[in-house]
Amino acid sequence: MIRREGVWVKVPASTANLGPGFDTLGMALSLYSWLELKPADKTVFHLYGEELKGLPKDKNNLIYQVAQLVFAEAGIAIPELQISMYSNIPLTRGLGSSASAIVGALFAANLLIGEPLDQAKLFDMATALEKHPDNVGASLYGGIITAAWDGRHADVLRIEPPADLDVLVAIPEFQLSTSKARDALPEQIALQDAVYNVSRASLLTAALSAGRLDLISAAMQDRLHQPYRAALVPGMARILAEAADHGALGAALSGAGPTLLCLVDANCSKEERQRLESFLLNTLGEQGVPAQLMWLKSCTHGAIELTMDKESSFWDYIKGEVRT
Ligand code: HSE
Repeated sequence: MIRREGVWVKVPASTANLGPGFDTLGMALSLYSWLELKPADKTVFHLYGEELKGLPKDKNNLIYQVAQLVFAEAGIAIPELQISMYSNIPLTRGLGSSASAIVGALFAANLLIGEPLDQAKLFDMATALEKHPDNVGASLYGGIITAAWDGRHADVLRIEPPADLDVLVAIPEFQLSTSKARDALPEQIALQDAVYNVSRASLLTAALSAGRLDLISAAMQDRLHQPYRAALVPGMARILAEAADHGALGAALSGAGPTLLCLVDANCSKEERQRLESFLLNTLGEQGVPAQLMWLKSCTHGAIELTMDKESSFWDYIKGEVRT
């Protein structure tokens, strides 16, 4: 069954690692991309908004290619597509923009052909494309996820985020590719550093599951990747070391960076929030790094289908969602 009228989907951004959970922990965030997929006579793209400027508008486009993987897997041919997309997820900043595009394309393509593939299959396909399960898992399932990938299959468990958790991100005004941030990592690490991370990642997972915000500061420590990546983001080392003294529960590099992420108790005062905001902006500013701050929530849903609005076009509908 091919849905000739097309489908609309909405996918959250994500942060990966949360400090010690390198390539394992992910959390969906309240920033989104929206995608329309529709069978067409000729492939055409409508890419809206600043974030998508410059992306290919031909069959080399990631969304087109990922959708074709789903059709091939299901043995269905839809060679020509109308693809419309809008995103407010900053590109190449460590907020999972590519993962949300991959998940959006897989999810929408599967809906378009009557959902022959289950979520676990979509997750395996997404992880094979992204090479690690943390961002794609969060974008697909929402909330907080912990996942393990063996190169073919990813096992995943979703954790309901604590309700009183807020997220403050500082998004530096420069891009950092995941490959450059992975090239900074050593090939081997010492056993005591591995033990350090296993214990913190386990504690963090348990603390988030149990809503034990008091353990987050101790549990968000990492020796596996952040110390090696600190040189790529001026100011990062100080922010990670001192954010908890300035009102954060804990801080981490968001994914491969350069965004820095603080988890914050939602019950904290306006003054405490302002103190943390100033600390982040001043620390980055002293290093000559302008940054944008955003207060976010953990998004409890993953990729979702939107009911098509017969009265309005995809773009008119999205504009309304972005405003709310
Ligand atoms: N876990 C990955 C990394 C996330 O830290 O390289 C990249 O987005």
